[in-house]
Amino acid sequence: MSGSGQAVEAFDLVIFGGTGDLALRKLLPALWHRYADGQIRDGSRILALGREAIDETTYRQRVRAALDRNAVVAADALARERFLALVEYHALDATDVAGWRDLAARLAAAPPRVRVFYLATSAELYVPICERLRELELTAGEVRVVLEKPLGSDLASATAINTAVGRAFAERQTFRIDHYLGKETVQNLIALRFGNALFEPLWRAEHIDHVQITVAETVGVEGRAGYYANAGALRDMVQNHLLQLLCMVAMEPPPALDADAIRDEKLKVLRALAPIDATNAGRLTVRGQYRAGATSGGPVPGYLEESGRGDAGTETFVALRAEVQNWRWAGVPFYLRTGKRLAERVSEIVVAFRAIPHSIFGAAAGPIAPNKLVLRLQPDEGVKLWLMLKHPGPGGLRLRRVPLDMSFAEAFGVRHPDAYERLLLDVVRGNPTLFMRRDEVEAAWRWIDPILAAWEASGEPPKPYTAGTWGPSAAVALIERDGRTWHDD
Ligand code: BG6
Repeated sequence: MSGSGQAVEAFDLVIFGGTGDLALRKLLPALWHRYADGQIRDGSRILALGREAIDETTYRQRVRAALDRNAVVAADALARERFLALVEYHALDATDVAGWRDLAARLAAAPPRVRVFYLATSAELYVPICERLRELELTAGEVRVVLEKPLGSDLASATAINTAVGRAFAERQTFRIDHYLGKETVQNLIALRFGNALFEPLWRAEHIDHVQITVAETVGVEGRAGYYANAGALRDMVQNHLLQLLCMVAMEPPPALDADAIRDEKLKVLRALAPIDATNAGRLTVRGQYRAGATSGGPVPGYLEESGRGDAGTETFVALRAEVQNWRWAGVPFYLRTGKRLAERVSEIVVAFRAIPHSIFGAAAGPIAPNKLVLRLQPDEGVKLWLMLKHPGPGGLRLRRVPLDMSFAEAFGVRHPDAYERLLLDVVRGNPTLFMRRDEVEAAWRWIDPILAAWEASGEPPKPYTAGTWGPSAAVALIERDGRTWHDD
């Protein structure tokens, strides 16, 4: 079990999209884990909404099955049944007028308490849902709304959604979730940078050669073909998760650990990103789409066959070279890559330091590799600092590259809570630090839009890559052109 935190007061959580993949695979298991850990009190209500006309017993049966599949904490049968007793189901088509008044009545049945509306639906429904909630006067008081990413599909649609949601909920009530910010290693990046005197003086262009951010998955598009065909990897992963990671690496030290201080600094990074548009996208970006191949689980079909509804123009892989144009980072490339059906599931941030200025060792000592700090988000969360040390024993001074290796699981001996566990309780507590502010989301789209436009204008399809590899060879060329390589230890 993870280290337990303080229990929160009983609350109501309403999940739009309650029968969907996110709710069953992530949200309900996360809630169960927090319940099992004593942080969610009996008397709280988890009200799942869905279009299907099913009864509560059938829904709970689905949740039970989902917990069997997705929960890490072994089920204590009694506790699990108590948890399931918190789960209710209410049939509601968000686009229809029926069912809303009953929902309002159901909510009014509980004493005043924190109420959270979690919009685990496609972004097109955010506006109609928020409008209905406002009409029914369900938005005032200790009420919060959670919006899943991607918020819109470009700057214009994101702005329209933000404006419409803003008519129903104040910014302080609005929690735009990016679950990567809830990952343990991302929090640890803040601890490492600002809780140690060691790194911060080196954290700049004078000492850092480049940064790599990789989020590689082995899964394909799974059951989300319709969504993914319109999104693609740039909207699905880069606009949010990868840019947020980049911000956490590149931001200036905030004056305090409060929500606005951190988000102000991240915003400055987004605004300092050098534009990528039709003039340079060909050189600075690579997009790919997987063809049939094999992963460790055996042969897999290509994107178009797998998804059935896929689009030849949808990228399932992106690599790009970004730059943050400010004093700290001038000239330091940030290489980002993400893709589905890659060789391995690994997410990590690599901070590559510059080479030593002068070697006192002869050729016999062997090559001297520059230091690297590797923050592993998953699997096996941890930190490795690659150093040059002496090979043990006699035989002259030969140097070897070795890691100072810290696995969080081994060091702390705890299960790391899934990002959603932390984030859901942060919403209940009303702490928006790990959520994206409106201006951040819009700044990220402002940078992404010209890349999308450049790809569209080029008319070039994504480059094919074989499933189970590291993406198109052009992604290797992107970094090797600069005399660097993707990290692979
Ligand atoms: C989601 C994307 O936000 O993140 C998915 O929509 C992706 O396409 C997922 O698979 C990856 O999350 P994690 O936590 O498994 O790395």
